[in-house]
Amino acid sequence: MVLGPIHMAYILAALLFILALAGLSKQETAKLGCTSGMVGMTIALIATFFQVESGLGFALIVVAMAIGAGIGIYVARRVAMTQMPEMIACLHSFVGLAAVLVGYNSFLELGGSAPTTVTIPVDATADEIAALLEQAGAAAAGVIATMSAAELNTHLAEIFLGVFIGAVTFTGSIVAYGKLNGTYKLRVFKSAPLVIPHGHLLNLLALVVSLFLMIWFMAADVPPAAPLILMTVIAFVFGVHLVAAIGGADMPVVISMLNSYSGWAAAASGFMLSNDLLIVTGALVGSSGAILSYIMCRAMNRSFISVIAGGFGNEGAAASSDEEMGEYREIKCPEVAELLKNSSSVIIAPGYGMAVAQAQNAVAQLTEKLKARGIEVRFAIHPVAGRLPGHMNVLLAEAKVPYDIVLEMDEINDDFENTDTVLVIGANDTVNPAALENPNSPIAGMPVLEVWKARNVVVFKRSMNTGYAGVQNPLFFKENTAMCFGDAKKSVEEIVANL
Ligand code: TAP
Repeated sequence: MVLGPIHMAYILAALLFILALAGLSKQETAKLGCTSGMVGMTIALIATFFQVESGLGFALIVVAMAIGAGIGIYVARRVAMTQMPEMIACLHSFVGLAAVLVGYNSFLELGGSAPTTVTIPVDATADEIAALLEQAGAAAAGVIATMSAAELNTHLAEIFLGVFIGAVTFTGSIVAYGKLNGTYKLRVFKSAPLVIPHGHLLNLLALVVSLFLMIWFMAADVPPAAPLILMTVIAFVFGVHLVAAIGGADMPVVISMLNSYSGWAAAASGFMLSNDLLIVTGALVGSSGAILSYIMCRAMNRSFISVIAGGFGNEGAAASSDEEMGEYREIKCPEVAELLKNSSSVIIAPGYGMAVAQAQNAVAQLTEKLKARGIEVRFAIHPVAGRLPGHMNVLLAEAKVPYDIVLEMDEINDDFENTDTVLVIGANDTVNPAALENPNSPIAGMPVLEVWKARNVVVFKRSMNTGYAGVQNPLFFKENTAMCFGDAKKSVEEIVANL
């Protein structure tokens, strides 16, 4: 087989996408991974341009890209790091919507639900057939006429599944966006799971009904529009319900699951458009998203199946109030500085609050100061600290904290008991002992950083408010814990000044 330049370009782009994924798995190679992805996408875009045959098509693509790029650059420059997960959810919704539109376009190209009977003489030439079809206003039906039954069935299945996955991804991602944004009043956008009676049964029913609609869609001589439209409506509602039923603490998994769905939706679009690169890229995104979701489920001790099935096992107990937990102790920044001076080993456990406060540079300065005093400093990173995978790693890398002192939870969890002082900077759920001690807690079973085992723990936060999962933290009330209230950046800067 001789490969044309476009296929060669597509293979090169696919290889670069694989390199991008490989690069992104380690901090040291993440930048190279991003560059590989960008080069691959540029090659893919240029190759796709060369496939466009009409001048109008070319012009439309250029205009669409200019508008899209303009909006993209504007939004990307304005979005704060803390808003990245919701922006990712928003982008997934676009992929889902695109798959729905591609599906409907493929359906319309088949002649849709307007069966037209055209009588074609046995000895008609190809040109005569085309003329007859056009005359009958059924040029599209010619597409069906040129397909074998097996090809037609495969194409119809691609359309149906592509629209289904795309529609679920579209509305599911919008709900995820609303939940992460947290400012919308609608109930479906609230962080707490929306539990409706017989929710799982309804989900199952939606799947079964969609399956019957698929059979109806594929069995007719000319594919009818009704089952496709009905299924789209069901899939839109299914997407909303699936994500609305999931609680805020499981949102990271949902985001990467939607990432995976958007990949499969793109792969389905690739099949419909007969575009190999879109199939390969969609499959890469789909499978890597699914693997990431699985890894995150393991990190949070959540059942993968129950999370993607829409929040099985959300029935956690309500959060305990402060009164039930007892007294907490306050500490001021100069005292924290003294405590650190008398420590020989320090572990810093950062969380979402460090991102909100943008305290990473101050924390990096603190690290340097402590190291200069001969104190061992390391970082403990929980897999779901912050609001997106790798959130803390990105912030610390930005502040030029050396990679070798930034350790994953599994690498450092056993070391807390031999540590003098732990600084918990804006972390809450990820250091909550209730996850291990209280089987009724909404975060029960989630592995956490066992910071309370250290000799001293200082927690930096602004108040006694709960973290993302909405549960109070018994860590704050332990004897060896002291609360340093205030904005994390200001507090750390004051400590640096006192060292
Ligand atoms: P959280 O449990 O969200 O707690 C963050 C803490 O930071 C809050 O208690 C808050 O307390 C404090 N804070 C906020 N702004 C601050 C500031 N300017 N200065 C000082 N403190 C500040 O954080 P975590 O431990 O990182 O846990 C992450 C949570 O998010 C988990 O429940 C996880 O499941 C969820 N989640 C994670 C992801 C991913 S992939 N990482 C995505 C979505 C959701 P105050 O208000 O009292 O200051």
